[in-house]
Amino acid sequence: MKILVTGYNGQLGYDVVREGRKHGLDMIGSTIEDLDITNADEVTKYVHDLKPEAIIHCAAYTAVDRAEEDREIAWDVNVNGTKYLVEAAKSIQAKFLYISTDYVYEGTGDQPYTEESKILPQSYYGLTKYEGERVVQNLLENSFVVRISWVFGINGNNFIKTMLRLAESHKELKVVSDQIGSPTYTHDLAKLLINMIQTNKYGVYQVTNDGYCSWADFAKKIFEVAGSSVKVEGITSEEYPTLAIRPKNSRMSKQKLIANGFEPLPHWEQALAHYVNELKQEVQNDR
Ligand SMILES: NC(=O)c1ccc[n+]([C@@H]2O[C@H](COP(=O)([O-])OP(=O)(O)OC[C@H]3O[C@@H](n4cnc5c(N)ncnc54)[C@H](OP(=O)(O)O)[C@@H]3O)[C@@H](O)[C@H]2O)c1
Repeated sequence: MKILVTGYNGQLGYDVVREGRKHGLDMIGSTIEDLDITNADEVTKYVHDLKPEAIIHCAAYTAVDRAEEDREIAWDVNVNGTKYLVEAAKSIQAKFLYISTDYVYEGTGDQPYTEESKILPQSYYGLTKYEGERVVQNLLENSFVVRISWVFGINGNNFIKTMLRLAESHKELKVVSDQIGSPTYTHDLAKLLINMIQTNKYGVYQVTNDGYCSWADFAKKIFEVAGSSVKVEGITSEEYPTLAIRPKNSRMSKQKLIANGFEPLPHWEQALAHYVNELKQEVQNDR
């Protein structure tokens, strides 16, 4: 199976390509240099020349706070870019898998969201990602929409790398403790996506590693696993204001995923331990 993966320079796209190759699939990862998804003509030509049987769309404008101000570009990448790719996929009858986010929900209460929960994005980024979902679903029947959260992978920046960097210069850190969700390890998610794209079980899914935690819980575990003695003090979202509103409740149920016969991802603590090893391995390989 020939699969085009956008966002190859990003966290998820990189691991999806890597995982697909392990399975002997013909994986083509595109970066913004190969294909700027906001250029409609370029997208049409690239996809028509390549003729993939499936597209896993991982590229996105992901700077959540900046999106509040750079609205035009965030919309262009997340909505228009998605539309051009979907139209191209449709014209060659390729399957399509779109990556979305917990930010499509309001993020209140304490119950896990389901795929059918009310959509009410609180940030511009969340709005553009939901509009991207609508483009996919309105134009294509053979499509998957996968809502994920709190992503970490080897290729790119994420919360874990930030915490480990801060640990080098701090004895104590203040981390938000009233936002609850689930980390998602791109290595685990990539395995699932490669499996999913080879099925016809189309639809919307929520996928993250198992278990819920706050950012403060996550940070404490990161330092424990990495053998760091940094202390974590929990603070409220109000004490750490950001341009974009973050959901306080990012809990997402994985019941639909399981009911459709997919293997759920391991617990986030297991994923974290694996990731910290992966980071250590990378450092050794760089030496
Ligand atoms: N990160 C999270 O915590 C999180 C949470 C929920 C959902 N998601 C979703 O998960 C997916 C993957 O996220 P990620 O963390 O892997 O993102 P990422 O590391 O920021 O990667 C996104 C990639 O998209 C590329 N891109 C941006 N504009 C483009 C354009 N016009 N044409 C082509 N490529 C373009 C970026 O290129 P450059 O490298 O040149 O900027 C980057 O390599 C995204 O759909 C994101 O919305 C992420």
